[in-house]
Amino acid sequence: MTAPKKLFVKTYGCQMNVYDSERMAEALAPAGYVTTQAAEEADLILLNTCHIREKAAEKVYSELGRLKPLKAANPRLKIGLAGCVAQAEGAEILARAPAVDLVVGPQSYHRLPALEARARAGARAVETEFPAEDKFDALPARPKARRGPTAFLTVQEGCDKFCSFCVVPYTRGAEASRPAARVLAEARDLVERGVREITLLGQNVNAYHGAAEGGEWSLARLIRALAAIDGLERIRYTTSHPCDMTDDLIAAHGEEPKLMPYLHLPVQSGSDRILKAMNRKHTAESYLRLIERLRAARPDILMSSDFIVGFPGETEEDFAETMALVEAVGYGQAFSFKYSARPGTPAAERPGLAAEVADHRLQRLQALLTKQAQAIQQAMVGREVTVLFEKAGRLPGQMAGKSEHLHAVHAEAPGMAPGALRRLRIVAANPHSLTGALLPETAPA
Ligand code: SAH
Ligand code: SF4
Ligand code: F3S
Repeated sequence: MTAPKKLFVKTYGCQMNVYDSERMAEALAPAGYVTTQAAEEADLILLNTCHIREKAAEKVYSELGRLKPLKAANPRLKIGLAGCVAQAEGAEILARAPAVDLVVGPQSYHRLPALEARARAGARAVETEFPAEDKFDALPARPKARRGPTAFLTVQEGCDKFCSFCVVPYTRGAEASRPAARVLAEARDLVERGVREITLLGQNVNAYHGAAEGGEWSLARLIRALAAIDGLERIRYTTSHPCDMTDDLIAAHGEEPKLMPYLHLPVQSGSDRILKAMNRKHTAESYLRLIERLRAARPDILMSSDFIVGFPGETEEDFAETMALVEAVGYGQAFSFKYSARPGTPAAERPGLAAEVADHRLQRLQALLTKQAQAIQQAMVGREVTVLFEKAGRLPGQMAGKSEHLHAVHAEAPGMAPGALRRLRIVAANPHSLTGALLPETAPA
């Protein structure tokens, strides 16, 4: 028997890339590959790249520079470029970087075994088409290995929104939803293998409209069907667009106990003028009304968001409106970025702000968001939460997991197995986590 070949995948960017990296490893398993955590022993290294903010291609070139000695030491080593930089600039990188043996865009991962074989035969290969077949359907069935208690599951990919700053519609292509039956089958398989919490993924996950018997299913319908799977305890989804937050999805937050009370709903800015220039198609007011309705359905829902500061034309008044929106919402968590001009996007044509202005605004916004997140963490002290334990904590006897609100929680729990779902009382708030104490398990009624 020939020794297995070793695959090392380095993942950048969003959760969908994390999911895709796992799928790439599965796609290459029939070609004799097992994954390794050590780049030095790899026969194939895949860089699963992200193109969302600046210097994406530069990062790839410097990573390739770091990998060069490995290639010199191991003539069998092939290097592949995957993900959104591969889609956007793959052909150019292949021309400029001789170390790269293959380039594969996000829609073509099922073609990896063929591309790898071609690269081994000495022909460098690029595959960045948007093929008609579904890459997920074409991937082989997974081995039934046990896995950890949480998993991602991509249900929707691509984007038709064309926010004026964003590369995703170009790198991931048009919006497409996976058929509901395939999603349910994958979820059942994950649960059989030990998964208790599934996060549904999509660039616009709440635009989901998957083919199903009797027509199309919305995300809310899909969530309700997933909730009927025994053994699946928690459902989350990300990332949502405010314009696709439908009545049935809001209602599901009030009605479906397995749907966790946490929502990442990026707003980007609090200024209607800037939102218009961003082509976001919602206003600050419509966003705030949406959150009111979500909170009416599920009062304890914790909100999260993304923000861009320093968008071309943003004035101090526009920025003040963003700060006011943050004050009005009260976020449990949020990500904020300095605007980065992306080649090929409409906003990149407009003159940008001075870097110091944007930097100063980003600092002020981040200070406010951190203050809010910490106040919410502090307010958890004394409250009861349910935690899904995922792994051993840093100290002996400790376990770490997440609360319903996605707070990181650790507790003394000697002998507890990952996957246990337990009630805890929060006893302390630390800067990035909560400390809990196990409550006695109530006897079944
Ligand atoms: N589909 C998601 C966002 C995907 S990108 C959504 O619509 O919310 C993740 C985040 O990166 C965005 O929400 C935005 O805040 C940020 N981002 C995207 N393009 C950017 C750019 N050109 N400069 C700075 N931040 C950007
Ligand atoms: Fe990008 Fe806008 Fe689509 Fe989100 S909704 S992926 S920000 S274009
Ligand atoms: Fe990055 Fe592509 Fe995800 S650009 S954020 S890896 S969709």
